Amino acid sequence: MSTQKRSYRIGVIEGDGIGPEIVRQAVRVLDRAAEKFGFVLNYVPMDLGGCSIDKHGVPLTQETIDLAKSCDAVLMGSIGGDPKTSPWYQLEPSKRPEAGLLGIRKALGLFANLRFSVLYDDLKDACPLRQDIAQEGIDFVILRELTGGLYFGEKSTKIVDGEETATDVLTYSESEIRRIALKAFDSAMLRRKKLTLVDKANVLESSRLWRKVVSGMAKDYPEVELDYMYVDNAAMQLVRRPSQFDVVLTENMFGDILSDEASMVVGSIGMQPSASLAEGTFGLYEPSHGSAPDIAGKDVANPLATILSAACMLRYSLSEEAAADAIEKSVMEVLKQYRTQDLKADGDGTLLIGTKQMGELVAEGI
Ligand code: IPM
Ligand code: MG
Repeated sequence: MSTQKRSYRIGVIEGDGIGPEIVRQAVRVLDRAAEKFGFVLNYVPMDLGGCSIDKHGVPLTQETIDLAKSCDAVLMGSIGGDPKTSPWYQLEPSKRPEAGLLGIRKALGLFANLRFSVLYDDLKDACPLRQDIAQEGIDFVILRELTGGLYFGEKSTKIVDGEETATDVLTYSESEIRRIALKAFDSAMLRRKKLTLVDKANVLESSRLWRKVVSGMAKDYPEVELDYMYVDNAAMQLVRRPSQFDVVLTENMFGDILSDEASMVVGSIGMQPSASLAEGTFGLYEPSHGSAPDIAGKDVANPLATILSAACMLRYSLSEEAAADAIEKSVMEVLKQYRTQDLKADGDGTLLIGTKQMGELVAEGI
């Protein structure tokens, strides 16, 4: 009988800034999980963002797109530099690092971005909210539409009536709304069965279409409690009583903004993993935070958002659920005693450690 191991092809984008050092720790943890749970990961390095500009003159090449398409999933660090000092930001906007990220999302059809906010028991002291609010618990996921809306609409800057006038077009079609709403309803069914659609339906035509499509789908999910919230109110509710949220569904720009806010309510943006999913099982996994060029190469960055993104990859793209659980459990154990500087509070009784040691401890704990 064949004893061939399960084997997967994983694209790896280290990227810029702290990207390489946090990805290295996530790979260390993945290797340990693979060994322990009996599967093989074959890594395929690829370029994106600033390092791609330096090598190829553009932030995203066809080679990267083709390589990514040949993989089961892609793990990414972060891209971009300091806009005040990096030469990448002297280039026109369509040639800058961020354009590479938007481009690969579009090219790979990664329309559903899941960003998780979980307040771990051992991090309650790192939560910047009042303790009575933190004690209610925080565990929600934002489903952000990732390949439509304002970020991908037509853009122009022209002289109109003698002055410069800039336009960004916001468009959504029914099918674009429906495919991500399906993922949101399905996620809600696997969780606490509560779905909140966040929009600006009191002002925006596109938001009114979101409400129409999503409310029309609700009859297929009678167990899901669906409610609607304007985005300005949602920004307030996220810090007022985050425990009320389970699954939050929203369009691209609102999700971009709210997910940064959501990462901070659980202590640090260094803790928030994300999954960007296409139709089927393919996905790109990256921390929600940026490339933090100011702390790059200093062994102080928190690798946990990337490590937790790797766990999401095992769960959503590879169906290696047990390995994913083991990584998450190890992270929780390690946090009982050790913290990177972003999570550390004076007198919290934990030890301050660096990027590499955090990766090693999580790997050992699997
Ligand atoms: C994110 C980032 C990107 C986005 C930028 C870098 C284009 O902020 O992943 O949230 O806005 O989508
Ligand atoms: Mg963002």
